[in-house]
Amino acid sequence: MKKNIILMGPPGAGKGTLAKQLKSSLNLVHISTGDMFRENIKGGTALGLLAKSYIDKGDLVPDQVTIDMLKARLAEKDCENGFLLDGFPRTLPQAEALERLSKEINRPIEVVVNLDCNNEELIRRISGRRVCKNCGAPYHIVTMKPKVEGVCDLCGGPLYQRADDNEEALKVRLDHYVTDTKPLLDFYKQRGLLENFNSLVGSQELFNQVSKFLTK
Ligand code: AP5
Repeated sequence: MKKNIILMGPPGAGKGTLAKQLKSSLNLVHISTGDMFRENIKGGTALGLLAKSYIDKGDLVPDQVTIDMLKARLAEKDCENGFLLDGFPRTLPQAEALERLSKEINRPIEVVVNLDCNNEELIRRISGRRVCKNCGAPYHIVTMKPKVEGVCDLCGGPLYQRADDNEEALKVRLDHYVTDTKPLLDFYKQRGLLENFNSLVGSQELFNQVSKFLTK
């Protein structure tokens, strides 16, 4: 079974949804830099305050801040069993830092799962996304509705729309994806680590395909 996995893809491709499905079935730790920043924003920390000024506009949080946060998280005990990175790396300096870091801790990246999705679908997904305020479970107002409107099926928490899930910020996020993150696909292809999946197949079918690949 593959451990130490990177999930890549544009905003709305389904990285968070897939990671939440995989983490329990594969017993891996889910590390989402976006979730970590949002936790800090919720907690009113200095890091949260800094991150919010970038995230709300759709911009990337500076590399060194993000790398330091990730480095501390990977050093925690629960990562020893393997991890799913969601939203990191997003820039070449981050990918290079991860390469050094994963060597240092002796947990090399084994595969990069890339989720392909077209822009029209990304916009549809992001504009309809709702997220649980308590547990972070993702929903969609049309395609992944909760049983009770506005209430999380898993924990009963309230659903909300992320501050960066608006047309203006999404445009900036998509531009950053093309300029800063998409070039990393070549970086990982050259290292023989890249596996592409079409995320248009729906979340359950995507989960089936990816988990079959990761456990073979
Ligand atoms: P982050 O939280 O990582 O956001 P993102 O990459 O823009 O990705 P999303 O969370 O928007 O989408 P997703 O791919 O997880 O899709 P989801 O599963 O929710 O980052 C937020 C911000 O933090 C960044 O903009 C940046 O500012 C900062 N940041 C984070 N990491 C950073 C880093 N490394 N460096 C610098 N800055 C960083 O699904 C979306 C919707 O589609 C949901 O409604 C879901 O129900 C639905 N859906 C999901 N999968 C499917 C499917 N297969 N079929 C149909 N519908 C689906």
